[in-house]
Amino acid sequence: MSPSPVYEATCTAPVNIAVVKYWGKRDTSLILPTNSSLSVTLSQDHLRSLTSARCITSGGADARDRLWLNGEEEEIKQGGRTERCLSEMRKMRKEFEASNSSLPRIADFPIHIASENNFPTAAGLASSASGLSALIATLSTLYALTPENGVSVSDLSRIARQGSGSACRSMFGGYVAWEMGLKDDGSDSVAVEVAPVEHWPDLHALILVVSDKKKGTPSTAGMQRTVATSALLQHRIKEVVPARMQRITTAIQKRDFDAFAEETMADSNQFHAVCLDTFPPIFYMNDVSRAVIQLVTELNRASVEKGEGVKAAYTYDAGPNAVLYVQEKDVKQVLELVLRYFPQTTESFPDPFNLGAKPASDVPQG
Ligand code: DP6
Repeated sequence: MSPSPVYEATCTAPVNIAVVKYWGKRDTSLILPTNSSLSVTLSQDHLRSLTSARCITSGGADARDRLWLNGEEEEIKQGGRTERCLSEMRKMRKEFEASNSSLPRIADFPIHIASENNFPTAAGLASSASGLSALIATLSTLYALTPENGVSVSDLSRIARQGSGSACRSMFGGYVAWEMGLKDDGSDSVAVEVAPVEHWPDLHALILVVSDKKKGTPSTAGMQRTVATSALLQHRIKEVVPARMQRITTAIQKRDFDAFAEETMADSNQFHAVCLDTFPPIFYMNDVSRAVIQLVTELNRASVEKGEGVKAAYTYDAGPNAVLYVQEKDVKQVLELVLRYFPQTTESFPDPFNLGAKPASDVPQG
């Protein structure tokens, strides 16, 4: 008797950090955003999700979809985001099987999924982005729904988006836009590559972990409170973001760090202003976050005065942790300055001088 075949796949996907933030949905079920956004995908070396999926071919009591996150089993809720991603991928696999009689019929098998992050989950470090992106990358490998078989990365991003909005951007490495799209069915709300990592490889992201505690207001709930109550958000989505998307895309194309930094910091500031304009207000930054902003501002002021240009750009997501974008030539100086004013208090993160997180082109990986 020949052994039954094993259908399984493992992929990793990295975190992305937005420089033009996504904040607000016009459709909460399909996850369609109120504005386009743009991010840099980081290297997988330091912040990534690793996900394995296996088809359960044997039947029995275990023959149902199951999910483990960081070793703990999580319920896959009916109609929830994971279930939606699974059923969309299954649907595509079924169509593929229907069009190709030589393919094994695996679409209807239950799936067991195990995923782990190598960084604190839900601490404002975009864990949902890497997690859902890794899930879609893994299922696309398992089901052979790949560019060679006519399924583009943007097609996959449309499904990752339904798991978590920001996840669609982690499907690409380098510099990535999530185009909000105009259609009600979300078919044009996809991630697209703005530039590969090789285009501007000397841009580094320094992640200053101010706190690795779980954040107070989850993004999903926070952004809808903003949509419901903030007048400033309407100004942002209509008047500010469309022009900023164009300017920052040009800055990336020209590798113009000063312009990139200006737009990045302005957008982070406006995102947190919009959170403050929400009722009840949402506070993601703390005193340390604000002190980091002051330090970067002072560093840039002194540097520009000397004719040396901008040294660092800060940005903050839905938590107090700072991400600083810095050019390679300035990494040492900026790190030394940060460590002088904010000495490390924890051993749990490795020596920052050996880190140098970089945008990555090699994502997602099988
Ligand atoms: C502040 O993608 O986590 O990081 O779509 O509800 O899952 P859901 O939200 P999520 O929100 C990310 C918000 C942000 C900004 C960004 O990454 O663009």
